[in-house]
Amino acid sequence: MSNNIVPVISATGLFTPAQSISNEELVSSFNQYVDNFNAKNNKDIASGKIQPLVHSSVEFIEKASGIKSRYVLDKENIINPDIMCPLIPERSNDEISISAEIGVNAAKMALERAARDIKDVDALLCACSNLQRAYPAVAVEIQQALGMENGFAFDMNVACSSATFAIQTAADFIRSGSAKSVLVVNPEITSGHLNWRDRDSHFIFGDVATAILVEAKDIAPEDHWEILGTKLITQFSNNIRNNFGFLNRTHPETMDAPDKLFVQEGRKVFKEVVPMVSAMIGQHIGEHGLNGDNLRRLWLHQANAGMNRLIAHKVLGHEANSDESPTILDSYANTSSAGSIIAFHKHHEDLAKGDIGLICSFGAGYSAGSVIVKKAA
Ligand code: COA
Repeated sequence: MSNNIVPVISATGLFTPAQSISNEELVSSFNQYVDNFNAKNNKDIASGKIQPLVHSSVEFIEKASGIKSRYVLDKENIINPDIMCPLIPERSNDEISISAEIGVNAAKMALERAARDIKDVDALLCACSNLQRAYPAVAVEIQQALGMENGFAFDMNVACSSATFAIQTAADFIRSGSAKSVLVVNPEITSGHLNWRDRDSHFIFGDVATAILVEAKDIAPEDHWEILGTKLITQFSNNIRNNFGFLNRTHPETMDAPDKLFVQEGRKVFKEVVPMVSAMIGQHIGEHGLNGDNLRRLWLHQANAGMNRLIAHKVLGHEANSDESPTILDSYANTSSAGSIIAFHKHHEDLAKGDIGLICSFGAGYSAGSVIVKKAA
């Protein structure tokens, strides 16, 4: 047994798309779409056959979610009121796929920051909500694109919790001795599964890719984060769901139905997930003999600023400031599994040796993952 091997986070990487859509731009395009729809359907609306669509609002979005803008891969088509979705040209099988490409970008940054040669990486996990195809695994494509000659790669999807579930998987590989260096990659092209015509959710998501290099402590760079413990939970719920899949074509009449995109009962998610996650974190830190006072920083899943305020308050025992629970939601929006990793990536370098923090994600499933880390140097 080699279960005294300590897994650590050696480095993280981030790819941010060049284009960003502000709430003002998003709402202006959405409202134009609403006006066009209502004008086109004015007779059916007047007769009561169909309901008119209603405008969205910048004030609502910021107040309800904390989101001010989001990065995307194709701004022009998303904010075109006649299109309202990204149009990403299909690539030939000889070209790298777009998911793999942005994943490779984030992965290269993590490898560079750890000064790790890709040839010494044993395993690669592509963990995200938004896998662009069934197979071959995007992870294997990233493995080849990076020049990783040995080892294995596979895809995994636990929705917004994919990154923390992959960190535990990587840490378990390392503890068991089946790998020493595991690259976790989270390419999240969320704009492809968001219904940009749905007033309740059109503002929620953004595109990004993150990467996390999880390694055995004895090979890690001096400046790393020890993984003190991981905890994962799941509990079935239909409140966040996306029925898109390759069985859709067996029901051609429903192929384009709105439930083949992201749908949620946002209010219910808020109410049910906040207590579930607060309890999980409390239990997890308790299992490690820790309490809220021992946590220097929380890097929480970035879905809603209000949810994070409540969870952080419950865990820390007081209202958290932006130093204790940083947010990246304002500029990135919800980036699914990547959110807590972006928060960690951008807000960890100022911490001191011995500081303890917690990375936590939560989302569809329901699923939630918690990772307790300690700064080593
Ligand atoms: N612009 C203006 N008003 C809007 C609007 C929009 N785009 N969307 C909804 N509203 C209105 C609603 O019609 C409703 O009006 P009413 O009170 O007259 O009925 C009101 O705003 C409140 O809507 P509600 O959907 O209850 O808002 P909310 O405060 O719950 O905020 C979310 C919505 C989605 C931001 C919030 O519920 C949330 O973030 N939940 C958690 C989601 C989550 O974590 N999901 C995980 C995804 S991975």
